[in-house]
Amino acid sequence: MTVEADGFAEAGLRFEVDGKIATITLDRPEKRNAQTFATWTALARIGADLPEQVRVVVIRGEGPSFSAGIDLRMFSPEGVPGQGSLASQAGLGDEAFDRRIAQAQEGFLWLRRPEIVSVAAVRGHAIGAGFQLALACDLRILADDAKLCMKEPALGLVPDLTGTKPLVDLVGLPRALEICLTARTVGADEAHALGLAELVVPSGELEQTVADLAAALLATDRGAATATKRLLAGAAGRTLAEQCAAERREQTARVRELFARS
Ligand code: CAA
Repeated sequence: MTVEADGFAEAGLRFEVDGKIATITLDRPEKRNAQTFATWTALARIGADLPEQVRVVVIRGEGPSFSAGIDLRMFSPEGVPGQGSLASQAGLGDEAFDRRIAQAQEGFLWLRRPEIVSVAAVRGHAIGAGFQLALACDLRILADDAKLCMKEPALGLVPDLTGTKPLVDLVGLPRALEICLTARTVGADEAHALGLAELVVPSGELEQTVADLAAALLATDRGAATATKRLLAGAAGRTLAEQCAAERREQTARVRELFARS
């Protein structure tokens, strides 16, 4: 079922829900799915209104590219009609500017929620905001023609759409530095070797592979999946003793719920 909402088409997005699986399609292929503030606002809105039954969220791009990143019109004095430009944003006060970026980040943050598993299906280029959107997802499945690039430093900016932490977590600081500060393109096979992709498949098999993965993810109990994601996601920030305590807490809740059910 396609969910129609004011602004999704203008934001270059399509949103479909099929039972427990939601699919967000970046849908401006003629502009290589370039993203605007409206895209990020719409993403945040999808996150806020996500139907309760959804357990897997797939993000894909229509056409040959996942996303060519921020709409380059934002760099022009005119900007994107109705959304201003980076130059007009620069005139905001510190607090207002901070709020503006935080609003954009909302579009990316919800993809880490424990109740869902988010999957990026990446074909072709994922540049800048496109790479960061893929990094915001829990899992990345790449077509063999995928090309990842953190272009922001080459344009005088920093990656600010929640991508720096997952990048460092996945590849380590030295490799993250090298990838960002050279703004070079990482191909699919290298991305896989670095841990940036769970799987690389021939381009024609991307959709089916992602559908199979979504089905496999739905095979586990929802409560257990949510608690396990919470546990795993928190592991890096805890000591072993703290993690053991977290395991005990989660398991106590699981066992109680299972026995209450039977
Ligand atoms: N913004 C706006 N329009 C874009 C775009 C972008 N980011 N990327 C591509 N397009 C448009 C092109 O202008 C072109 O439009 P026209 O047909 O009207 O001329 C159309 O999309 C097709 O583009 P190409 O002919 O270049 O397509 P391609 O398949 O040969 O190349 C590409 C694809 C490698 C992605 C190339 O288009 C490209 O390099 N795009 C720019 C990428 C970029 O620098 N993005 C900014 C990243 S930094 C970032 O995202 C910052 C942030 O978050 C703050």
